Amino acid sequence: MKILGISSGSKNGNNDAMCKEALMGAKEMGADIEFINLHNLDLKYCTGCISCVISLFSGKGNRCVLKDDFEWLLDKMLDADGIVFATPVIVKGTPGIMHTLIDRFGPRMDRGNNIIATKIAEEKGGKIPDTRILKDKVVSYMGIGGSDWTTRIQCDHGLQALTPMWKIINNDVFPWSKGIIMEDEKVARVHMIGINLAKAAKDISSAAYLGEPGVCPHCHSRNFFLNDSASEAICCLCGIIGEIKVIDGKISFEFPEEQLKHAHDTLSGKMIHAEDIQKNEGKNMEQMKTAEFKARVNKYKGFISASMPE
Ligand SMILES: Cc1cc2nc3c(=O)[nH]c(=O)nc-3n(C[C@H](O)[C@H](O)[C@H](O)COP(=O)(O)O)c2cc1C
Repeated sequence: MKILGISSGSKNGNNDAMCKEALMGAKEMGADIEFINLHNLDLKYCTGCISCVISLFSGKGNRCVLKDDFEWLLDKMLDADGIVFATPVIVKGTPGIMHTLIDRFGPRMDRGNNIIATKIAEEKGGKIPDTRILKDKVVSYMGIGGSDWTTRIQCDHGLQALTPMWKIINNDVFPWSKGIIMEDEKVARVHMIGINLAKAAKDISSAAYLGEPGVCPHCHSRNFFLNDSASEAICCLCGIIGEIKVIDGKISFEFPEEQLKHAHDTLSGKMIHAEDIQKNEGKNMEQMKTAEFKARVNKYKGFISASMPE
């Protein structure tokens, strides 16, 4: 059983240390362990070119045009049974390099898209995406902050797991933790996160979430998009639409049962989204061939060019 630790903190800083502490816990449970710091890698931003979407939906596999260390990292991630992330809280959420990882997972690693792409490739005799993408995996997150400005980190972390539909075991936040290696209680909690993850990796099918309950009873998120009308709220993580209620001073998020099939972290929700994207991309491709579309593109192209450094 392989457990991979991924830190996006500074070299030998708090996040590296806590990632290694969790790996120590996992090792005690018999895991083979490996540690990666994202800053040692060349990871380019996703430019939104959609070549991954096109290759998925045309039976050409699961391609990204960017040439960097992402394929190396992805191979390590896909090989692991469980992954533990230690992430510094930067401006309340994950730092840019983690966002890059989340973006690069984007449509390319989405489980629904890869199920559809596999089917298309099988039918067309095309390139079948890496079968490890459809394998279950357990994952835990630790957000380590220097203050209590930490309100986005768990939601960001949840988004990382949402795309490939990996099972979250812990999604913990450690505010005021610049000196975490000196705080034995927190270090013990981190150690336990590693133990929890390794135990979960031994039996992924019956592994369960062990983090704090949060507000959304489905995905445990505390982040919501509040609409103007009445009390309608959308869970920022799983996309379920419901109502925020305060009953006896306790906040709750309630939603109709049928919302679950639209949830962005369920296979049915992913299939709905994938089919919508597939239809829309097809429509857009047709539109792009028209003279009117080309004329409008040229209008903006000719208006002004982007300034660049010398
Ligand atoms: C640019 C920047 C923004 C930060 N923003 C936050 C923040 O919003 N909330 C917070 O709790 N800590 C914030 N911090 C503190 C970092 O979370 C802290 O320095 C980090 O966890 C240290 O990890 P390391 O020792 O592994 O590098 C910020 C630090 C930097 C450099």
